[in-house]
Amino acid sequence: MIKPHGSDTLNPLLVTDEQQRLQLLDEAQGLPSVVLNSAAAANAVMLGAGYFNPLTGYMNLADSLSVAENLHTSDGLFWPVPVLNLVEDISAISGADRIALRDPNTEGNPIMAIMDVAAIDSVTDTQINMMAEHIFATLDPEHPGVATFTGLGRHLLSGNIQVLSLSYFQADFPGTFRTAGEIRNEIAERGWEKVVAFQTRNPMHRAHEELCRMAMERLDADGVVVHMLLGKLKQGDIPASVRDDCIRKMVELYFPANSVMVTGYGFDMLYAGPREAVLHAVFRQNMGCTHLIVGRDHAGVGDYYGAFDAQTIFDEKVPADALAIEIFNADHTAYSKKLGRVVMMNEAQDHSKDDFILLSGTKVRQMLGDGIAPPPEFSRPEVAQILMDYYQLETA
Ligand code: ADX
Repeated sequence: MIKPHGSDTLNPLLVTDEQQRLQLLDEAQGLPSVVLNSAAAANAVMLGAGYFNPLTGYMNLADSLSVAENLHTSDGLFWPVPVLNLVEDISAISGADRIALRDPNTEGNPIMAIMDVAAIDSVTDTQINMMAEHIFATLDPEHPGVATFTGLGRHLLSGNIQVLSLSYFQADFPGTFRTAGEIRNEIAERGWEKVVAFQTRNPMHRAHEELCRMAMERLDADGVVVHMLLGKLKQGDIPASVRDDCIRKMVELYFPANSVMVTGYGFDMLYAGPREAVLHAVFRQNMGCTHLIVGRDHAGVGDYYGAFDAQTIFDEKVPADALAIEIFNADHTAYSKKLGRVVMMNEAQDHSKDDFILLSGTKVRQMLGDGIAPPPEFSRPEVAQILMDYYQLETA
């Protein structure tokens, strides 16, 4: 099986021994604590669940700047996006070398982790902007990722963590949320060797479905792991529970049994386009996948990134030996009226623009808002129905 990134075995930071976990929780009650921001909490979940292997905690300023600029930590580990715990107010933990980290997304802010504080660095606005510009390729405050990142605080808490809870994800998405280790185990149990990961924050329309099918066929893969984002999205995006229902229905009706695993992970969307695509590759390798599909405007938003920047970054910024996972590059897919099926547009050279049906996610959301079902060329009817039901409730 493909090795995790940076180590021979996966080392998740979640404490799984129940007795030890309870002891640590007990200790944590007596420690000074901070309530994390959602981005830092999402990092804790990813570290706890093994997705951010081989990291052992939050990065210090030197590593963060180095990762933002050069995609490597100061020790030379390949890593595409700094893993930060930025805090606004550190008065409650001043002088402490062991602190508790609290969950901002669960009522009562329960303890998520214990941290051994290695350093608290003050970060200047210049340094924040420098990192943001490298990660997001823009400083436009309208960019949702930039807006979040630049508002996270100016005190950088770094050090190793022991994760005691994976926030609300296991309780809210019991059938879907998985740790990287759980996915590895399931892949091994199924006896899959060539495994394609599909990243998504959408209900999976026809284009998404066909991308999975094309990748599976062309790579002669044993299976696809649909891995949906279950954390926070920008305003207007479709909630995870609705996306989960749509994806499960589509897989049940349109894929052969036992060819697709429907899973999810607890991370907030960064909208960092190319850089996020590379992070996606790292954590799909950690969960045991050999390939990751990267299509048009992967992890993008608005028109901040070129349609295929998330593919070219792998040639331009990722050293050949940095990752073991391979990228399945996909061209823009669209429904061909001529052929009556979804195709990659660059493979339909005899088509003119009018031969394709192209629908953007934004346009579909508009249609749904107006009570119009997306056409079958765009969404499977059973998926369209779930979306219509959701939008009708929303607008009721
Ligand atoms: S993402 O932010 O998670 O990337 P989305 O769920 O829409 O958004 O996309 C999931 C994957 O499908 C990404 O790799 C994206 O590039 C790809 N994709 C989505 N729609 C298309 C399309 N029409 N043509 C080609 N690739 C697409």
